[in-house]
Amino acid sequence: MKTILITGGAGFIGSHVVRRFVNKYPEYHIVNLDALTYAGNLENLKDVDTRSNYEFVKGDINDAPFINDLFEKYQFDGVLHLAAESHVDRSIADPMAFIMTNIVGTVNLLNGARKIWKSAEGHRFYHISTDEVYGSLGETGLFLETTSYDPHSPYSASKASSDHLVRAYHDTYKLPIVITNCSNNYGPNQFPEKLIPLSIHNISQNKPIPIYGKGENIRDWLYVEDHAAAIDLVFHEGKDGETYNIGGHNEWTNIALILQLCKTMDKKLGRTEGTSEKLITYVKDRAGHDLRYAIDSTKIQKELGWAPSLQFEEGIEKTVDWYLANHDWLENVSSGAYEKYYEKQYVSR
Ligand code: NAD
Ligand code: DAU
Repeated sequence: MKTILITGGAGFIGSHVVRRFVNKYPEYHIVNLDALTYAGNLENLKDVDTRSNYEFVKGDINDAPFINDLFEKYQFDGVLHLAAESHVDRSIADPMAFIMTNIVGTVNLLNGARKIWKSAEGHRFYHISTDEVYGSLGETGLFLETTSYDPHSPYSASKASSDHLVRAYHDTYKLPIVITNCSNNYGPNQFPEKLIPLSIHNISQNKPIPIYGKGENIRDWLYVEDHAAAIDLVFHEGKDGETYNIGGHNEWTNIALILQLCKTMDKKLGRTEGTSEKLITYVKDRAGHDLRYAIDSTKIQKELGWAPSLQFEEGIEKTVDWYLANHDWLENVSSGAYEKYYEKQYVSR
């Protein structure tokens, strides 16, 4: 029996990782540690929350004594660290929460692991990170694992800091670590502040779809379950101290993506083609908006045999189907209803 800590398991990507691990590894004891911020809620895990190999702990990774006690109590064999403040626009409006959770919180977890792991043998601290640490590409080129860090937003700077600290704990204290830097994820359970779920929500309510600047920025989109599969593979088979880039080889300008989404939404909602795209509204650009992200995932493909399984058209259709079938989820996360509900169910330390 292995005891595995997954942080941020009530969030978007974390919930897909928890579900995969709980279902696939009945021999593991999966502990999901999450503070249940606005971005996390346990509705995302309704289908696995009564399973005997799963346990939820509400708590804040910024609380060092609590984290130390947790590592002492559970003697985790491995850590998959996904808890973070994840939204770039929020980091521009208020960076401090990003500095605390993404940097200080990560160091608290590294210290917790360092205190209980007497040797590297049988242990792994896995930091799930982002391609945004590499900065912005021009019209050509791809991010490699060797690309220099050049973060521009408070969010990406905080993730870059935490990546550096994770590597520093490896080099200084021989902590067994692995890092992945992934491109933009999409799929079920993503909080509707991010481009795709926000646009689905707005289209279904006939509200404007805000496009920053000219809509020419490019992102490389990956279906969230493909990311969860890569995380599973890297956790089990990645080499100690290594970094792997994960991406979809699926670049879209924001405007082309939204036009494709509008087409899918028109079809699903039985609207005449062209109806939803009338909602597109160009708004003020994001400050320091990175032009283009695109991942070269050759290393993980060649060394570990990972490849994305879904084509974007199929992934976007599955995503739209999920949001339309889970209208209540969308309304409850947008209104903060789940947040209030779970605040009453779980008391923080
Ligand atoms: P999310 O915002 O949906 O979820 C984050 C989770 O962390 C939430 O459940 C939240 O409650 C929890 N959390 C936040 N602060 C906490 C704290 N102080 N203590 C404990 N829990 C806390 O984020 P996501 O999109 O699922 O991203 C997960 C991870 O993957 C992040 O580290 C992010 O940087 C990284 N990542 C995300 C993407 C993407 O496209 N979403 C791509 C690459 C990497
Ligand atoms: O690349 C990985 C990163 O992808 C993750 O590390 C982040 O956690 C995740 O939030 C995401 O960051 P982005 O800033 O790329 O995602 P977002 O959905 O916020 O924006 C995608 C693009 O769409 C970006 O160019 C900004 C633009 N945008 C976004 C919103 C919310 C709009 O044009 N309008 C919007 O309303």
